[in-house]
Order: sequence, then structure tokens, then C-alpha cells
Amino acid sequence: MSNKPPIPASTTGIGDRPKRRSILDRHKVLEKNATLLLVFSFLVVSVGGIVEIAPLFYLENTIEEVDGVRPYSPLELTGRDVYVREGCYVCHSQMIRPMRDEVERYGHYSLAAESMYDHPFQWGSKRTGPDLARVGGRYSDEWHVDHLTDPQSVVPESVMPKYGFLSATLIDAEYTADLMRTHRIVGVPYTDEMIENAASDFAVQADPDADWEEMVERYPGAVVSNFDGAPGISEMDALIAYMQMLGTLVDFSTFTPDASR
Ligand code: HEC
Repeated sequence: MSNKPPIPASTTGIGDRPKRRSILDRHKVLEKNATLLLVFSFLVVSVGGIVEIAPLFYLENTIEEVDGVRPYSPLELTGRDVYVREGCYVCHSQMIRPMRDEVERYGHYSLAAESMYDHPFQWGSKRTGPDLARVGGRYSDEWHVDHLTDPQSVVPESVMPKYGFLSATLIDAEYTADLMRTHRIVGVPYTDEMIENAASDFAVQADPDADWEEMVERYPGAVVSNFDGAPGISEMDALIAYMQMLGTLVDFSTFTPDASR
């Protein structure tokens, strides 16, 4: 038992501190008031958003421009639509990642510029079959016809479905100019000249005997061939024209990534 006199409060320092509310106390106000919390959360998120997004409006382009990349020729563009319609992207990606195993198997990793004219892009999210970003020129047209018609005839263990019916559907360029105009609206730089010549460019690409020189000037690197070996232009022709140019536009023997841009 102690009979010491109680220590006066004024000497302990307890209780006589100036009443300053700590920052945590102030934060409690926010935590207890849902409306206020909402308003302040919104402010914080807005600042973060503006800092990240606003500069993008002042940049001309976020994609490094690369020599060789051009809009699709009319026939390739049509073939691309067949590719999209048939859902090839469900089993095939078109995006080689910058990792050693991928680069060794498929070739140079994909550049953003290589899909800058893709609407919608075909990067895909699953590889039941191999990546197709650089399949252009890897096989002959005949191989593609055989493979698309009956994949198991060339790769016995393949689970790829048969697409032989594409040979039976003949197509013309009735809507190709409209298709190109639509792509122009979303930023693909098709010129008036390209759109005016849509129908003839479409036809000559599948006919090596025709005058295709101007078409190739407009679309450098376009492959001219009777892709399916049969008369008339079929969906098979268009799809193979598209396959044969995939990943071939950029010359990687001269390409160096430009970090300064
Ligand atoms: C059900 C999944 C599936 C679908 C859908 C599919 N494929 Fe395939 N594809 C594969 C598989 C698996 C392989 C690998 C075996 C082979 O070569 O057949 C393959 C291989 C290929 C190859 C050869 C690639 C290479 O580098 O060897 C091409 C080209 C190809 N497919 C094109 C297409 C096109 C074009 C379409 C749409 C018309 C399509 N595929 C739809 C599964 C699919």
C-alpha cells in the first residue's frame, strides 16, 4: 500500500497536450461519411487518370513507325475478313512475344506497327495451333490449299477443322471499296487512288497474267498468284493471299528499334 500523494496531472504531461487532431483523426471523418469518401476517392482516381491519359491526346502516335508496313491490298483485306469470320483467331495467335523460345520458333518478335492497320487486331489469346504472325512465305500456295482443305492430309495429328468449302465460294470486289472506306474512317491511310482501283487491284492480285505492276506499286510486297490454282477468285484465294503476306512487310535485316522516338 502506498500513501504517496497522487501525482498532479499537470506534471505527467498527460491530458494537458494541446488538442491537435492527428491526420488519422481527420481521415476518420472521411471513413465515417460515405458521400465524402466517394467524392474524395473520385478526386484521387481522377488525378491519377489525368496524369496517365492526358498526355496521350498530345502525342501524334504511340506506335513507332516502321518502314514497309502498309495497308492491306484489297484481296488481302478480303482474306482477312474470311479469317475473322471463320474464327481462325480462336486457335491461332498473331503476336510473337519477345522471348527466346518464341523468336526461335516463329521469327522476329511482333512489332506494334505490324498490326497498326488491323481493325480488329488479331493478336488472339490462345494457341491451339501455332502463331501465324510470320507464316507468310513459309509454305507454298499449294500447301495452304491442301492444308486448309484437309489439314490431316499434311499434318496427320492436326485438330484443325477442314475449310475446303472456301474454294467453292467465288467472290467479287463489289463491296471492297466500301470496306476500304470504312477502314479509312478508323485511320487506315487508304488513298483515293487505292479506293478507285479497289476492284481491279482485287482481281489482278490473283492473276499473274494480268497487269499487276501498279497494284504492287500501291501495295509493295503484295504476292501475286493464282493462289488456289483454280479459275475464278474464291474465298480460298483471298485467305491465302492474306496468309502469304503475314509478317513479311518489315525487312528485319535492316530494322533497328529506335528508342529515341
Ligand atoms: C480448332 C483449332 C483451329 C482452328 C479453328 C484453325 N486452326 Fe489452323 N491449326 C490448328 C492446329 C492444331 C495446327 C497445327 C497442325 C497443323 O498444321 O494442321 C494449325 C496449323 C495451321 C497453319 C500452319 C502453321 C504453321 O506454322 O505450320 C496455318 C497456316 C493455319 N493453321 C491456318 C488456319 C486458318 C487460316 C484458319 C481459319 C480458316 C485456322 N487455321 C483455323 C488449329 C486450328
